[in-house]
Amino acid sequence: MTIAVKDHRDSIEPARDERVEALLSQMSVAEKAAQLTQLFYFRLPPGAEPSLDFDAEKQPAMVEEAIRTGRAGALLFVTDPSEINRLQRMVVDGSRLGIPALFGFDVVHGLRTIFPVPIAMAASWDPVRIEESQRIAAREARAVGIHWTFAPMVDIARDPRWGRMVEGAGEDPYLAGVVAAAQVRGFQQSDDPAETLIAGPKHLVGYGAAAGGRDYDEAELSDSDMWNVYLPPFKAVVDAGAKNIMTAYMTLNGLPATGSGWLLDGLLRTTWGFEGFVVSDANAVKNLVTHGFAENARDSATRALRSGVDMEMAISDPAFEHLADAVADDPSMAELLDASVRRVLSAKAEIGLLDAPFVDEAGAQQVLARPAHRDAARVAAEKSMVLLRNEGRLLPLAADALASVAVIGPLADSARDTIGPWVFDYDLDETVTILDGIRARAGAGVTVVFEPGIPVVQRTFPSMFDQFGRNRPYDPEDFDETAAFEAAVAAARASDVAVVVVGEWQNMIGEAASRSSLDLPGRQLELLQAVVATGTPVVALVMNGRPLDLRWAASHVPAIVDVWYPGTRGGEAVARVLFGDVAPGGKLPFSWPRSVGQVPIVYSYRSSHEPENQARRYWDEASTPLFPFGFGLTYGDVQYSPPVIDQDQIGLHDVATIRVTVVNTADRTVDDVVQLYLHQRFGSASRPVRELKGFQRVTLEARESRTLTFAVGPQERTYWSTASKSWVVEPSVFDVWIGPDSTTQFGLTFKVSDS
Ligand code: NOJ
Repeated sequence: MTIAVKDHRDSIEPARDERVEALLSQMSVAEKAAQLTQLFYFRLPPGAEPSLDFDAEKQPAMVEEAIRTGRAGALLFVTDPSEINRLQRMVVDGSRLGIPALFGFDVVHGLRTIFPVPIAMAASWDPVRIEESQRIAAREARAVGIHWTFAPMVDIARDPRWGRMVEGAGEDPYLAGVVAAAQVRGFQQSDDPAETLIAGPKHLVGYGAAAGGRDYDEAELSDSDMWNVYLPPFKAVVDAGAKNIMTAYMTLNGLPATGSGWLLDGLLRTTWGFEGFVVSDANAVKNLVTHGFAENARDSATRALRSGVDMEMAISDPAFEHLADAVADDPSMAELLDASVRRVLSAKAEIGLLDAPFVDEAGAQQVLARPAHRDAARVAAEKSMVLLRNEGRLLPLAADALASVAVIGPLADSARDTIGPWVFDYDLDETVTILDGIRARAGAGVTVVFEPGIPVVQRTFPSMFDQFGRNRPYDPEDFDETAAFEAAVAAARASDVAVVVVGEWQNMIGEAASRSSLDLPGRQLELLQAVVATGTPVVALVMNGRPLDLRWAASHVPAIVDVWYPGTRGGEAVARVLFGDVAPGGKLPFSWPRSVGQVPIVYSYRSSHEPENQARRYWDEASTPLFPFGFGLTYGDVQYSPPVIDQDQIGLHDVATIRVTVVNTADRTVDDVVQLYLHQRFGSASRPVRELKGFQRVTLEARESRTLTFAVGPQERTYWSTASKSWVVEPSVFDVWIGPDSTTQFGLTFKVSDS
C-alpha cells in the first residue's frame, strides 16, 4: 500500500524557515547549546538497582532542574502521556523563548502493541507489512506524546555473538536496505502527519562489526565491506527521507564514529545530501575522551560538533554544556552551532511541536487500545515465522485428529519473553503466550498439558535492562528441577504430540547481550533430547533473535519452527501456523551456522583457492551453514521453472528483464519468497559468489501458477571496487539464479558489453 503524502513544501517551508530564523536570532549561545542537548529521564521502580552510570534517586531531579533552567531541548525514555505533559510544561516555562522539547524513545517493534522483533520482521521479507507495522507503532507512540524513534537499527550483523543482531535485518545489505527503508516510510509517512514520528536510523556505521561480537568493542572494516555491505542500508534510509541519524559508539578503523568528520559531515551530509539532524548515541560524545581521542569534555563537544553531530544524547553531565565556552574561545564555531540549532528547530517545526507541544492524554488511551493494531501484530508474527524442518510432514497438526498436546519449556508460558527485548510500555496481561495460543486454538476436545521441565536460566552477568519493570526472568526459589524434568518427559510420553519451546530469554539478547557461545542456555538440549526419546512426535519452536546451535535438533526433531520473539499476539500466531490456519512463508535473513566456531559465515563470500573444497574448510565439521540464507519451508511445494531473460547480451546501461514462473503444487494457500541472486564473473575486483538483488513475497492459492518479473540493471550491477576505490559498473558475464533460497540452482547467464 502506498500512502499519499501531502506535499505542501512550497508553501510551508518558507514560513517554517522564517520561524526558525526568528527564534535563532533571539538565542544566546547557552540557549543554542541547550537545544542540542538531550537527556534521559529515568524513573526506576522502587527498589531497582541501576546498573547504568547514574544515581536513580538523583537522576530525575537533575533532569527537572536542567529543564526548569532551560538547559535541555530534548528528552528521552518517558512514555506516559501525563508525565510527558508535566515535563513539557517545565521545558516550555523554563525556556526563555518557550521552545518545547522533542521526546524521543526506542520505539523499536511497537509501543503498546508489540510486533515481532526486527530480525523477525526482516524474516518476513514483506516490506509492505513491515511498513504498516511501523506506521501503527508510530501512531501509538505519537499518541502518548513521543515525537521521535531511535529506529530502525540498520546495522549489518554477521556475527551472531553480537546480541543486537535481534534489532536489525541480518547479514545482507540489499535485504537490510529494503527493510530499513520500509520502516522509515512507516514511521514518517501517514495520511495524518499527527500520527508520524521522526525516524532515527542507527548506528552510523559498523557497530555490528564489533570485534569478537562483543557489544561496544571497536570495529575494523575493509573499504570493500564498508562500501558494499555496511553503508548501503544507511544510504537506503537517507534516500527514504529519514529525518535523523544516530552515531555509533565504537571506533571505526581507529577513529571514533561520533567524532568522524569524514563520516558525518563528509559522507552523510555532503555526499549523500542528508538534510536531517544527527544525534549521538547515549554518552557517545563524552566517550570521545574514553576512546583516547578527545582531551576532555569540552574538547569532545568541539570535536563532535565539528564532525557533524548536532545533538548530544546524555544520561548526565552533557559535554555540550561546554559549547558556550568553546564558542567563546573559537568564534568560528558559532556558525556550526547555528547550523545545528537550525536543523533541530526545523525538525521541531516540521513535526508540529512548535504549535502543539502538549499531548491529548485521554485520546492516547483510545489509540493504544485499538484492536486493529493487535490484529496487525498477529499477522506480522505469522508472516515472520520460518519453518526450518518438517520431516514426514508432521506439520500442520490436525486438531481434530489429536487428543492431547504436551507444551514444554519455560519460554512457552512466559508473556515477557514472548514480546522480546527493547520494549518497555507493554501490557503483559493481554500478551498471548505460546501456551495460551495452543490452548485456545486446539479447542476443548484436546487436552493441553504444560510442563516447564527446567528452571528459568539466568545470565552470568545481569542485564542492564533487568532494572526496568519485569525484565529479569521470574525464577521461583522452590523450583524442583528433578521433578520438573521428569514431569515434562512424562507429559510428552502421555501425549499425541509434544511442542517444546527452546531459545534464549529476552534479556539474553539485545544491547549489551553478547555471548561467547550459541548453545541453548541451561538444560534445554537435554530436555529436548529426553522428550524426543519418548517416541512422541516432537515440534521444536525456537524463540530467538540470533541463530542458536541446533545441530542435534536439525537431525533428530522432525519439525522445527523459528518463531522468534513474536509479540503481543505471538502465541496466537504460533498456534495458527502449527494448526495450519496459515502456512509459514518466512525466510532466514542470515546464514545459520552449525556452531559458534563457524562465525562469521555468509552466503555472499568470494570464491577462493580450491572452491571444490568450500564445504570442507574445517577437518572436523562441514563448513557450510546448518540452514542457508533465505531458507524457509512451507506446507507444500512451490516449483520453479527455469528463469528466462529477454536478451542475453546487453549494454552497460541496459536493464535485463528476467521472468520466472512459480507453481504452488499444494491443495492449500502457501507463501513463498522468490529470490534473485547475481554474480559477476570477472571485473576490476573479485565479486561474491552470489548476492541478493531482488525478491518478491507471494501468496499462492492452491495450484496457482504465477509469472514474476525482475529487472537487473546498472544499479544492481554497481559495486565499489577496491581497484579504483570508486563505484563501478563493468562489462562482464553475469550469472543469475532465481529460487526459494540462496542455494538455488535455477540459473541463466547473460553478457554485458561496453557499448
Ligand atoms: C543506547 C543504544 O545504543 C541506542 O541504540 C539507543 O537508541 C539509546 N541507548 C537510547 O536508548
